[in-house]
Amino acid sequence: MSPSPASIETSPPSLSLRRPDDWHVHLRDGAMLRAVAPTTARSFARAIVMPNLVPPVTTTAAAQAYRQRILEALPDHAGFQPLMTAYLCDGTDPEDLAAGFRQGVFTACKLYPAHATTNSAAGVSDLARLEPVFATMESIGMPLLVHGEVTDACVDIFDREAVFLERHLDPLVRRHPGLKVVLEHITTEQSVAFVEGAGASVAATITPHHLHINRNAMFRGGLRPDFYCLPVAKRERHRLALRRAAVSGRPCFFLGTDSAPHARAAKESACGCAGIFNAPWAIESYAQVFEEEQALERLQGFASEHGPRFYGLPQNEEQIRLVREPQRIPELVRLDDGAGGTVALVPFHAGDILNWRLEASGGEDRP
Ligand code: NCD
Ligand code: ZN
Repeated sequence: MSPSPASIETSPPSLSLRRPDDWHVHLRDGAMLRAVAPTTARSFARAIVMPNLVPPVTTTAAAQAYRQRILEALPDHAGFQPLMTAYLCDGTDPEDLAAGFRQGVFTACKLYPAHATTNSAAGVSDLARLEPVFATMESIGMPLLVHGEVTDACVDIFDREAVFLERHLDPLVRRHPGLKVVLEHITTEQSVAFVEGAGASVAATITPHHLHINRNAMFRGGLRPDFYCLPVAKRERHRLALRRAAVSGRPCFFLGTDSAPHARAAKESACGCAGIFNAPWAIESYAQVFEEEQALERLQGFASEHGPRFYGLPQNEEQIRLVREPQRIPELVRLDDGAGGTVALVPFHAGDILNWRLEASGGEDRP
C-alpha cells in the first residue's frame, strides 16, 4: 500500500514515544548474540527473548545462564532488560517452570509444535501431554506464547496457521479460559478475528515484515530468501487485515518483531533458513506503517503500552524520538561480534528508503 501524498504532508516532523519493548525476538548466542543484541537494545527497553537455541532453553538454570550471556553482550546498554522464556517440550516439568516464574527468571513459556520452525525439533509433539503444564501456568498467571502452525505435511503451508486455530488453539483456550495466551507473529485475517473474539486473556504480536510484505515478495523476479520466514507471509488481503489490527488501537495487538538473524550463507542456500533480521530499523518500519495508515497517534499504544499491560508489567517512562527524515537502509550490515570479527547480515528493507529515523540516545550509532 503506498501512502497518499496528503498523509505524508500532514505528518509531524518528529514524534516522541515512550520507549517501546519488543515482545518477540531471537537474540541467538555466541558471536551472533554479541553482534545483534545491541541492535535490539538500541531501540527497545525490554525484549521477550525466544528460547530456541541449540540446545533449547528448557530449565530455569539454563535461562539464568542465557540471561547473563545477553547482559554481558550489552556492556553499553545497562538499562536493557531481557525477559526470558522457557521452551516447552514433551517432558517439561511444571514445578521447575513455576519455580522459575516465581523467582522472576521466566516471564513466559514458548510453545513450538515439534518441527514447525527453526530449532523446534525438541518442541511439543502432542498438546494433550502438556495439560498439567497448562493448568499450572493458568493457576500462576504465566503467559503461554504460541507458534501457531500445524506441522501436518498434508496441510498446505499457507493454511497452517488457520488450521492450528481450529484444531488446537480454540480448544486449548476453551479448556483454560484463564490462561494468558499470546498468538505470536500472526499472519492471517483468521488470526486477527480469533484474537479479537477471544476475550482479554488472548493477545497477538505482529511483526514489521508481515505488515509490509505479502507472499509475492519471496518470488519477485526470482527466489528471494531474505523474505522467507515462518509463518510464511500470506496473500495481500491478510496483510491488509494485519495492518487494520495493528493500527486499530485494540490492546490485544502489540509489537513483536520476530527478528530472526541467520548468517547470509544459511539464508542463501539450497535449503535456506526461515527468519528475517529486522531489529536495527524495526521501530522506523512500524512508524512507516502507522504513517501510511494515518494512525501515528496509535503507534505508542501498539509499541509501548499494550504489551506491558497484557504482561502485567510497568510501562517504560523513558522517551525515544523519531525524526521524519528519509534514510536508505543498507544492503548489508556488518556487526561487531565482540571477539575481533564481524557478522554480515542482510537486514529487512535492504536498499529501501524509510521515512523515519530513531534519534540516537547516548551517542550510539547505527550498525
Ligand atoms: C525463527 C528463527 O529463525 O528462530 N524463524 C522465523 O522464520 N521466524 C523461528 C520462528 O519464530 O518461527
Ligand atoms: Zn520467532
